[in-house]
Amino acid sequence: MSAGRELVSPDAEGDEHTIEAALRPKRLDEFIGQARVREQLSLVLHSALRRNRPPDHVLMSGAPGLGKTTLAMIIAAELGAPLRVTSGPALERAGDLAAILSTLSEGEVLFIDEIHRMARPAEEMLYLAMEDFRVDIVVGKGPGATAIPLDIAPFTLVGATTRAGLLPAPLRDRFGFTAHMDFYDVGELERVLHRSSRLLGIVLPDDGAREIARRSRGTPRIANRLLRRVRDFAEVRADGLVTRDLASAALDLYEVDAEGLDRLDRAVLGALLGKFGGGPVGLSTLAVAVGEEPETVEVVAEPFLVRQGLLARTPRGRVATAAAWIHLGLVPPPDAFGADPRPAEP
Ligand SMILES: Nc1ncnc2c1ncn2[C@@H]1O[C@H](COP(=O)(O)OP(=O)(O)O)[C@@H](O)[C@H]1O
Ligand SMILES: [Mg+2]
Repeated sequence: MSAGRELVSPDAEGDEHTIEAALRPKRLDEFIGQARVREQLSLVLHSALRRNRPPDHVLMSGAPGLGKTTLAMIIAAELGAPLRVTSGPALERAGDLAAILSTLSEGEVLFIDEIHRMARPAEEMLYLAMEDFRVDIVVGKGPGATAIPLDIAPFTLVGATTRAGLLPAPLRDRFGFTAHMDFYDVGELERVLHRSSRLLGIVLPDDGAREIARRSRGTPRIANRLLRRVRDFAEVRADGLVTRDLASAALDLYEVDAEGLDRLDRAVLGALLGKFGGGPVGLSTLAVAVGEEPETVEVVAEPFLVRQGLLARTPRGRVATAAAWIHLGLVPPPDAFGADPRPAEP
């Protein structure tokens, strides 16, 4: 993996987990942005506290690095409840889930990250657990097998997924509240950066914060990472002061462009324009052209490109918009997606 790719990869890497833990907001009122989600969640949590009952199960969906894990921890903290953490890929067999469910204490928050990757039998066990706080433990095999019902403590499930579309409807329907996490705007990311710079002891003038925020792909995790890289650059190349020009020079060096597009983003657009004339082209063909897994292109690159108005998903495949041609310094063809329809010559 190249330095550029790591820098903007939305997943936490290496010792970043430790730094992230230090930068994570602990309570809902420290959590920046996502105003709608925060307000709705606050209502759900407070009414549950008032009734002295565990709140509805909560599903959070959104791109990597937008704060899903952070919110799961905040939910437990706001409820004053213990938190148990697992992930979809760890729940391969129903027994893996049964072992966790049967040892939950009353009111505990169970966080299942990447819940769309849970195995089928575990998923089916979860339906019953979510609805009736009960699991059926199957004893024996074949025709002689019997299901022994086992009550479990009332708990709150918090699920997180980057791909809500992959969740089977029966599972999605059992969540009382779904939080759709969106990309952050520049102002919100500036607040994230100012908060992090205070915690890390970095002097960050407003114009430096703005420049980093603009290039952070709408993602707090990336903003925090760019902040640390720019700080390193400032310490070596300058007097440590993160000015706008310095941030801009540092991010050029790390190959994050002025709109925050990273190498993968540009590779996807470059292939779409250079090899497929702007599309439409299928996801898997496009992924092969950039040498990545289709899931990486779909989960990591596309949501941001779509949100920036550079790429569109159509029933016939992925297409580049007129803005994408312009972003890569090319002239869009007249029939490019999203191009201004020209009035016919008289
Ligand atoms: N709303 C926010 N306010 C402040 N920092 C945030 C916010 N959302 C995310 N972060 C920061 O970004 C990092 C990644 O967030 P995380 O919750 O791990 O994302 P996800 O689970 O969605 O991939 C966290 O360490 C945290 O410091
Ligand atoms: Mg996470």
